[in-house]
Amino acid sequence: MKVLGISGSLRKGSFNSALLRAAIELAPDEMTIETASIADIPLYDEDLRQSGGYPPAVAAFRAAIAGADALLIATPEYNFSIPGVLKNAIDWASRPPDQPFAGKPVALMSASNGMLGGARAQYHLRQTFVFLDMHPVNRPEVFVGRVADKIDAQGVLTDEPTRQYQGGNTNWIIQTERYGRTFYGGVSAKF
Ligand code: FNR
Repeated sequence: MKVLGISGSLRKGSFNSALLRAAIELAPDEMTIETASIADIPLYDEDLRQSGGYPPAVAAFRAAIAGADALLIATPEYNFSIPGVLKNAIDWASRPPDQPFAGKPVALMSASNGMLGGARAQYHLRQTFVFLDMHPVNRPEVFVGRVADKIDAQGVLTDEPTRQYQGGNTNWIIQTERYGRTFYGGVSAKF
């Protein structure tokens, strides 16, 4: 299955982008994760869309979403909510015709140096997914708190308990496979 990974941070040293790289590294064989950049997406302007259609960066982003079986978003929490750059990219991609989010399974991860690991951004995103008619994975929830202690200077997720996620005996690979099964079930059967 093809998963599109999206980071909600543009920062070169982003912890959330590092989580996406870890997901790519640990993904099961039957899952490929490619990432889409939202760095070149302009600020949303309805006049721009009406007069010129989708800017190239938005068109590419929409096509990448449409071509994926599922999405995996890793995002920081900004001011207890969704980072503006990520919300802006979602807003652009969500416009007609053929809004590409409809019916897509989506899994979430977030990282922050706080204890809650960006949880509030995830719950705000889940609200947005209702309007977009997406199908969020409910379990596992992946919140990585105190993230600076868990990712090294090269941007590699090194914290073993986090890799072995989450509290139980199951490891990150199994959790990632669980994403896969949920996605597969969603794509082929449920939705
Ligand atoms: C933050 N940060 C933050 N952290 C958090 O846990 N809750 C919050 O509400 C906020 N708010 C917030 C607002 C803004 C504007 C910034 C720039 C930062 C801190 C944030 O989690 C931290 O910078 C992360 O490292 C950002 O993620 P990346 O860029 O490392 O992926």
